[in-house]
Amino acid sequence: MNEILRVEDVHRSYGTQEVLKGVSISIMAGEFVGIMGPSGSGKTTLLHIMGGILSPDSGTVNYNGKQVNPAPLNLRAAYRREVGFVFQNFNILNELTVLENLLLSMMVAHLPCDREEAMKQLRYVGMEHKADAYPDELSMGELQRVAIARCMVRNPSIVFADEPTGSLDTANKELVMEIFRDIHKRGKTLVVVSHDSNTLKGATRIIELVDGRIFNGGPLR
Ligand SMILES: Nc1ncnc2c1ncn2[C@@H]1O[C@H](COP(=O)(O)OP(=O)(O)OP(=O)(O)O)[C@@H](O)[C@H]1O
Ligand SMILES: [Mg+2]
Repeated sequence: MNEILRVEDVHRSYGTQEVLKGVSISIMAGEFVGIMGPSGSGKTTLLHIMGGILSPDSGTVNYNGKQVNPAPLNLRAAYRREVGFVFQNFNILNELTVLENLLLSMMVAHLPCDREEAMKQLRYVGMEHKADAYPDELSMGELQRVAIARCMVRNPSIVFADEPTGSLDTANKELVMEIFRDIHKRGKTLVVVSHDSNTLKGATRIIELVDGRIFNGGPLR
């Protein structure tokens, strides 16, 4: 397997608070990596740095051997179009229908607006029948399934998810994680942050972050 992502000695502070204190992780293509750790340990900060949303103060993120963070904005933007994010609170635009949310995501990634592909991804998460509904009309579980479809229409090479089941009841949690496990089976690289070990049941490796340091599971190879 090839190394797809390499995080090396990343430090990040907010003001005087040092949140990441030298984090290094190597991720192979096709892995499903779970990141666990107490609240405030820096999981979201780390995920955002891995995904190019946030820059480290020092240290680097390499994607397929190329430094993408820190990097000039155009390079970092290109990297962000390569990868996909799923958030705890979905980040779906309420002013657009479900289908329009997916089409917009394709446009943002500089992909053609492919309605067929969007409908295919909605079908995959069991939300095809709600293509023309507005987000306000959907349940939390349905919203998260739409958010996963929106991520997948871009055919991302890595899917980053931050507490993707954090707002869901048990039944929807299981449904959403079944979808993630299936995405992994289809060959995607997944990095999922969660407090909940059930959510990470399908993970091939669990990394523990404690007080801004890797406690377990992630030394560089
Ligand atoms: N934009 C910000 N400005 C200032 N401080 C921040 C900011 N974002 C995060 N922090 C602080 O950095 C620390 C780590 O935050 P982070 O969100 O990475 O933790 P986390 O492990 O994801 O926590 P949780 O499990 O609660 O989501 C926290 O103490 C938080 O208050
Ligand atoms: Mg968090």
